[in-house]
Amino acid sequence: MKPSNSPDYANWIPQKLVTGLALTAALLSLLFGLSFLLPGGTLSLILRFILGAAALLMLVMFTYMARARKLLSYEGGGVQGKILDNVLRYLDWDGRGELLDIGCGSGALTIKAARKFPGARCVGMDYWGAMWDYAQTQCENNARLEGVTDRVRFQKGDAAKLDFPDGCFDAAVSNFVFHEVRTQPDKLALIREALRVLKPGAPFAFEDVFFSRGHYPDLEELIKTLSGEVAELRFMDTRKNDFVPKLLRTPLVAGEMGLLCGRK
Ligand SMILES: C[S@@+](CC[C@H](N)C(=O)[O-])C[C@H]1O[C@@H](n2cnc3c(N)ncnc32)[C@H](O)[C@@H]1O
Repeated sequence: MKPSNSPDYANWIPQKLVTGLALTAALLSLLFGLSFLLPGGTLSLILRFILGAAALLMLVMFTYMARARKLLSYEGGGVQGKILDNVLRYLDWDGRGELLDIGCGSGALTIKAARKFPGARCVGMDYWGAMWDYAQTQCENNARLEGVTDRVRFQKGDAAKLDFPDGCFDAAVSNFVFHEVRTQPDKLALIREALRVLKPGAPFAFEDVFFSRGHYPDLEELIKTLSGEVAELRFMDTRKNDFVPKLLRTPLVAGEMGLLCGRK
């Protein structure tokens, strides 16, 4: 990735997804138009109906995702940055020592943490897979442009098996990562792994799609189990924060988010 003069935190809705939806909508619309050249009959009618409905659905999806991308973006609605600020608001930390950001993506939360806690050192880890428009060099460039290079470092790894010894961090954060981790389908095990690298009593704030039944089939049980394993645990329903516009409160974007915070 080329260094640039302003930080590049990318977008949780990748451009390639929006472009893909636009292209699919265009292709389906074309096929729908061409279906009128077919000879009449029930089969042609059914095909035309299916193509028309699919084209319309893709068009709606494209319009929604393009609008949501704009609202999330730092240049547009700025919602992405506000969601990250909110994670740090729930981290009850004095800023002394070292913080870990699990699945740091473009480094946005790691860098925000470094700016909020000027005495802290911050580590961002991610596996930087192909699915996202994120890279380690992008994180490093962002840290340089934000003037926090001396206190921030990034390293590649797997959230399911963190390359850090037990109890070595003074704080930990994570945002919208656990549900993405394919190497560990058991989300309780993933959270335990995140807690493993924290010192006893160290604060944490983990946001994820905790209201998604697909990823967290029994949230109550998860909270109950974790409550018995840490010194302090709170669960916050962050779906309806005022800074999240109604349009984004759908399962596709921010409609299933919640936050686990407390102390190990
Ligand atoms: C929705 S993005 C969120 C990025 C960042 N936390 C933020 O809030 O901007 C999900 C991130 O999880 C990372 N991720 C997915 N699986 C991972 C794994 N097994 N280990 C580490 N990071 C992972 C992806 O690379 C991606 O950066």
